[in-house]
Amino acid sequence: MSELTIRNIQWFPGHMTKTRRMIAANLSLVDAVVEILDARIPQSSRNPEMNQMVGTKPRLFLMNKADMADPVMTDRWIAHFRKTGIPAIPVDCKSGKGVKNFTGAIEQLLQPLLEKRKNAGMVGTPIRLMIVGIPNVGKSSFINRMAQSRRAKVEDRPGVTRTKQWVKIGSNMELLDMPGVLWPKFDDQEVAKRLAFTGAINDDVVDIEMLAMMLLEYLAKTYPKALTERYKMTEFTEMGGLELLETMGRKRGMLISGGEVNIERAAITLLDEYRSGKLGRMTLESPEEQADG
Ligand code: G4P
Repeated sequence: MSELTIRNIQWFPGHMTKTRRMIAANLSLVDAVVEILDARIPQSSRNPEMNQMVGTKPRLFLMNKADMADPVMTDRWIAHFRKTGIPAIPVDCKSGKGVKNFTGAIEQLLQPLLEKRKNAGMVGTPIRLMIVGIPNVGKSSFINRMAQSRRAKVEDRPGVTRTKQWVKIGSNMELLDMPGVLWPKFDDQEVAKRLAFTGAINDDVVDIEMLAMMLLEYLAKTYPKALTERYKMTEFTEMGGLELLETMGRKRGMLISGGEVNIERAAITLLDEYRSGKLGRMTLESPEEQADG
C-alpha cells in the first residue's frame, strides 16, 4: 500500500531546540530519567534523541497503557529493554494498575546511589526524577496518580508557556514535570503510521480511510482472530486494505444507496473500536523487527 501522507504536523524546530536545552540544563538536578512509552508501540513512542540526550544517567521506561497492549508482547519488550540496559515496568495510569511497582523499580535502579547516600549519612535527600514522554502518552495521568490528586491538565502545546515544576511524592521522591514534550521519529513512515493508529497523531492531519486500510492489513496478518470475532470476517488473508475495509463495512451494514459500502464510516468505526480496545489488547510492533534497540 502507498505511503500515508501526514499534513501540516505542528511540530516546530524551535520547540525541539527548547526541549533539548531544557533537558540538558536540568539533567544534573535529577538522579534518573523516567521515559513514558506507549506499551502498544514501545519503539515508535520513543524519542529518537533520548539516548544521546540522557547520556549515562540511569533510566527507567514506563510502559504505559499496558491495559491496551498484548501482555505477551509487553513481556517481550520488557526483556528486550532489559538487554539494552534499561529496566521497564508495565503500568496502566488510567486505572492505576502497576503504578505501585514504580517506587520499587526506581529504588532498584538507583540502588548504588542510595547505598552511597546512606553510607554518607544523607538520609533525607529525596530521589529526584525527570519525567519525559511524547504528547498523549500519559505523562499527566502518571504524575497525577503518583501525586494522588487531580491537578489541572495544562496543554503541552508549543507556544504555551509553562514553567517546570517539582511534584513531591511522599517524603523521599520528587518528580520534575518538564514543560517541554518529546517528539517521536515522524520522518519514519512506519513510526508515523503506528502513531496515527493509536491516535497519537491527530486524525485531522491524516487520510483516515487510508489509515484504516493500513490498520486492517496489519491486523489481518497479526491479529486475524480479532477481525473474525468482532466483525465476523472470514477468508481475508489474500485481501488488500480496501477490500478488507469494504468487507468490514458490509458486515456492519454500513451501506449507502446502490449497495456500496460507506468507506468513511467504516474507517471511523474501525479506528474508534481499535482505540477504545473493543478489538482486544494488541501491540503494533515487536522487538525483533527493531534494528537499533
Ligand atoms: P500526556 O500528559 O502525556 O499528554 O497524556 P495524558 O495523561 O493527558 O493522557 C492522554 C490520554 O491517554 C488520556 O485520555 C488518558 O486518560 C489516557 N491514558 C493515560 N494513561 C492511560 C493508560 O494507562 N491506559 C489507558 N487506557 N489510557 C490512558 P483522554 O481520552 O485524552 O482523556 P480521558 O479519557 O482521561 O478524559
